[in-house]
Amino acid sequence: MGKTNIVITGFMGTGKTSIGTLVAQKLGREFIDTDQLIAKRLGLSINEIFEKFGESFFRTKEKEVLLELSKKSNLVISTGGGSLVPKENQKIMEKNSLIFCLQCDTDEIIKRTSNDNSRPLLKENKHIEIQRLLKRRESAYNKIKLQINTTRISIDEAADEIINIYLNQQ
Ligand code: S3P
Repeated sequence: MGKTNIVITGFMGTGKTSIGTLVAQKLGREFIDTDQLIAKRLGLSINEIFEKFGESFFRTKEKEVLLELSKKSNLVISTGGGSLVPKENQKIMEKNSLIFCLQCDTDEIIKRTSNDNSRPLLKENKHIEIQRLLKRRESAYNKIKLQINTTRISIDEAADEIINIYLNQQ
Protein backbone atom coordinates (compact mmCIF):
# COMPACT_ATOMS: atom_id res chain seq x y z
CA MET A 1 0.00 0.00 0.00
CA GLY A 2 1.42 3.39 -1.01
CA LYS A 3 1.17 6.73 0.69
CA THR A 4 -2.42 7.61 1.29
CA ASN A 5 -2.68 11.41 1.32
CA ILE A 6 -2.36 13.61 -1.72
CA VAL A 7 -0.64 16.92 -1.03
CA ILE A 8 -0.77 19.70 -3.59
CA THR A 9 1.72 22.49 -3.20
CA GLY A 10 3.42 25.15 -5.33
CA PHE A 11 3.53 28.91 -5.70
CA MET A 12 0.55 31.25 -5.27
CA GLY A 13 -1.74 31.25 -8.27
CA THR A 14 -0.69 27.87 -9.65
CA GLY A 15 -4.14 26.39 -8.98
CA LYS A 16 -3.64 24.40 -5.75
CA THR A 17 -7.05 25.01 -4.18
CA SER A 18 -9.17 24.62 -7.33
CA ILE A 19 -7.32 21.52 -8.47
CA GLY A 20 -7.23 20.00 -4.97
CA THR A 21 -10.98 20.51 -4.57
CA LEU A 22 -11.60 18.71 -7.86
CA VAL A 23 -9.20 15.85 -7.09
CA ALA A 24 -11.00 15.28 -3.77
CA GLN A 25 -14.39 15.41 -5.45
CA LYS A 26 -13.37 12.92 -8.15
CA LEU A 27 -11.88 10.50 -5.60
CA GLY A 28 -14.67 10.97 -3.04
CA ARG A 29 -12.11 12.06 -0.48
CA GLU A 30 -12.12 14.75 2.18
CA PHE A 31 -10.46 18.00 1.04
CA ILE A 32 -8.44 20.22 3.32
CA ASP A 33 -6.91 23.56 2.41
CA THR A 34 -4.35 24.46 5.07
CA ASP A 35 -4.94 28.22 4.71
CA GLN A 36 -8.69 27.78 5.12
CA LEU A 37 -8.16 25.55 8.14
CA ILE A 38 -5.82 28.02 9.86
CA ALA A 39 -8.15 30.96 9.07
CA LYS A 40 -11.18 29.08 10.36
CA ARG A 41 -9.50 28.04 13.60
CA LEU A 42 -8.32 31.56 14.37
CA GLY A 43 -11.51 33.20 13.13
CA LEU A 44 -9.41 35.56 11.01
CA SER A 45 -8.52 35.91 7.34
CA ILE A 46 -4.95 35.18 6.22
CA ASN A 47 -4.47 38.94 5.73
CA GLU A 48 -5.66 39.61 9.30
CA ILE A 49 -3.40 36.89 10.74
CA PHE A 50 -0.35 38.46 9.02
CA GLU A 51 -1.40 41.96 10.11
CA LYS A 52 -2.10 41.10 13.76
CA PHE A 53 0.50 38.45 14.51
CA GLY A 54 3.06 38.57 11.70
CA GLU A 55 4.37 36.05 9.22
CA SER A 56 6.40 33.95 11.66
CA PHE A 57 3.30 33.29 13.77
CA PHE A 58 1.50 32.16 10.61
CA ARG A 59 4.42 29.85 9.71
CA THR A 60 4.25 28.26 13.18
CA LYS A 61 0.53 27.62 12.77
CA GLU A 62 1.16 26.26 9.30
CA LYS A 63 3.70 23.77 10.62
CA GLU A 64 1.36 22.68 13.43
CA VAL A 65 -1.39 21.99 10.92
CA LEU A 66 0.99 20.05 8.63
CA LEU A 67 2.13 17.90 11.56
CA GLU A 68 -1.46 17.18 12.48
CA LEU A 69 -2.50 16.33 8.91
CA SER A 70 0.57 14.15 8.32
CA LYS A 71 -0.85 11.72 10.87
CA LYS A 72 -4.15 11.37 9.03
CA SER A 73 -5.02 9.24 6.02
CA ASN A 74 -6.96 9.44 2.76
CA LEU A 75 -7.01 13.21 2.54
CA VAL A 76 -6.48 15.58 -0.35
CA ILE A 77 -4.56 18.55 1.06
CA SER A 78 -3.80 21.84 -0.64
CA THR A 79 -1.15 23.86 1.14
CA GLY A 80 -0.32 27.55 1.16
CA GLY A 81 2.40 28.55 -1.28
CA GLY A 82 5.10 28.83 1.39
CA SER A 83 4.17 25.72 3.39
CA LEU A 84 6.61 23.25 1.90
CA VAL A 85 9.46 25.66 1.30
CA PRO A 86 11.17 24.58 4.56
CA LYS A 87 12.78 21.21 3.87
CA GLU A 88 11.63 20.04 7.26
CA ASN A 89 7.99 20.52 6.27
CA GLN A 90 8.50 18.52 3.07
CA LYS A 91 9.93 15.71 5.21
CA ILE A 92 6.94 15.79 7.55
CA MET A 93 4.48 15.47 4.69
CA GLU A 94 6.47 12.91 2.71
CA LYS A 95 5.86 10.20 5.30
CA ASN A 96 2.26 9.55 4.39
CA SER A 97 1.63 11.69 1.33
CA LEU A 98 2.38 11.78 -2.33
CA ILE A 99 3.39 15.40 -2.90
CA PHE A 100 2.63 17.22 -6.14
CA CYS A 101 4.15 20.58 -6.92
CA LEU A 102 2.26 22.81 -9.34
CA GLN A 103 4.34 25.10 -11.51
CA CYS A 104 3.14 27.89 -13.74
CA ASP A 105 4.75 30.54 -15.97
CA THR A 106 5.38 33.81 -14.15
CA ASP A 107 3.23 35.89 -16.54
CA GLU A 108 0.30 33.58 -15.95
CA ILE A 109 0.79 33.73 -12.15
CA ILE A 110 0.76 37.54 -12.38
CA LYS A 111 -2.46 37.39 -14.40
CA ARG A 112 -4.16 34.92 -12.07
CA THR A 113 -3.31 36.85 -8.89
CA SER A 114 -3.85 40.36 -10.23
CA ASN A 115 -7.44 40.93 -9.05
CA ASP A 116 -7.09 39.23 -5.71
CA ASN A 117 -6.06 41.09 -2.58
CA SER A 118 -6.34 38.19 -0.17
CA ARG A 119 -2.58 37.48 -0.23
CA PRO A 120 -0.54 39.43 2.34
CA LEU A 121 2.74 38.81 0.52
CA LEU A 122 1.43 40.34 -2.69
CA LYS A 123 0.20 43.72 -1.55
CA GLU A 124 2.29 46.21 -3.47
CA ASN A 125 4.38 45.71 -6.57
CA LYS A 126 2.86 42.29 -7.18
CA HIS A 127 4.94 41.73 -10.26
CA ILE A 128 8.26 42.33 -8.48
CA GLU A 129 7.25 40.42 -5.34
CA ILE A 130 6.22 37.39 -7.38
CA GLN A 131 9.54 37.33 -9.21
CA ARG A 132 11.52 37.81 -6.00
CA LEU A 133 9.69 35.07 -4.10
CA LEU A 134 9.77 32.65 -7.03
CA LYS A 135 13.52 33.06 -7.33
CA ARG A 136 14.01 32.52 -3.62
CA ARG A 137 11.81 29.43 -3.52
CA GLU A 138 12.68 27.86 -6.85
CA SER A 139 15.15 25.31 -5.49
CA ALA A 140 12.77 24.21 -2.72
CA TYR A 141 9.92 23.64 -5.17
CA ASN A 142 12.24 21.82 -7.56
CA LYS A 143 13.14 19.29 -4.89
CA ILE A 144 9.65 17.84 -5.16
CA LYS A 145 9.68 14.90 -7.57
CA LEU A 146 6.20 15.16 -9.02
CA GLN A 147 5.76 18.40 -10.95
CA ILE A 148 2.75 19.51 -12.94
CA ASN A 149 2.80 22.61 -15.09
CA THR A 150 -0.65 24.21 -15.05
CA THR A 151 0.06 27.11 -17.42
CA ARG A 152 -1.73 25.63 -20.38
CA ILE A 153 -3.94 22.88 -19.00
CA SER A 154 -7.40 23.02 -17.49
CA ILE A 155 -8.22 22.35 -13.83
CA ASP A 156 -9.89 19.15 -14.95
CA GLU A 157 -6.82 17.95 -16.88
CA ALA A 158 -4.51 18.74 -13.97
CA ALA A 159 -6.81 16.88 -11.54
CA ASP A 160 -6.88 13.82 -13.82
CA GLU A 161 -3.10 13.83 -14.14
CA ILE A 162 -2.71 13.88 -10.36
CA ILE A 163 -5.25 11.09 -9.92
CA ASN A 164 -3.56 8.89 -12.56
CA ILE A 165 -0.14 9.25 -10.99
CA TYR A 166 -1.56 8.67 -7.52
CA LEU A 167 -3.48 5.54 -8.50
CA ASN A 168 -0.47 4.11 -10.34
CA GLN A 169 1.69 4.27 -7.25
CA GLN A 170 -0.80 2.36 -5.08
C1 S3P B 1 1.67 32.24 0.95
C2 S3P B 1 0.68 31.73 0.15
C3 S3P B 1 -0.75 31.81 0.50
C4 S3P B 1 -0.91 31.90 2.03
C5 S3P B 1 -0.12 33.04 2.56
C6 S3P B 1 1.38 32.89 2.26
C7 S3P B 1 3.08 32.10 0.52
O1 S3P B 1 -1.43 30.66 0.00
O2 S3P B 1 -0.53 30.71 2.64
O3 S3P B 1 -0.62 34.20 1.99
O4 S3P B 1 3.98 32.28 1.36
O5 S3P B 1 3.31 31.75 -0.66
P1 S3P B 1 -1.81 30.46 -1.57
O6 S3P B 1 -0.60 29.89 -2.22
O7 S3P B 1 -2.93 29.48 -1.51
O8 S3P B 1 -2.21 31.78 -2.09
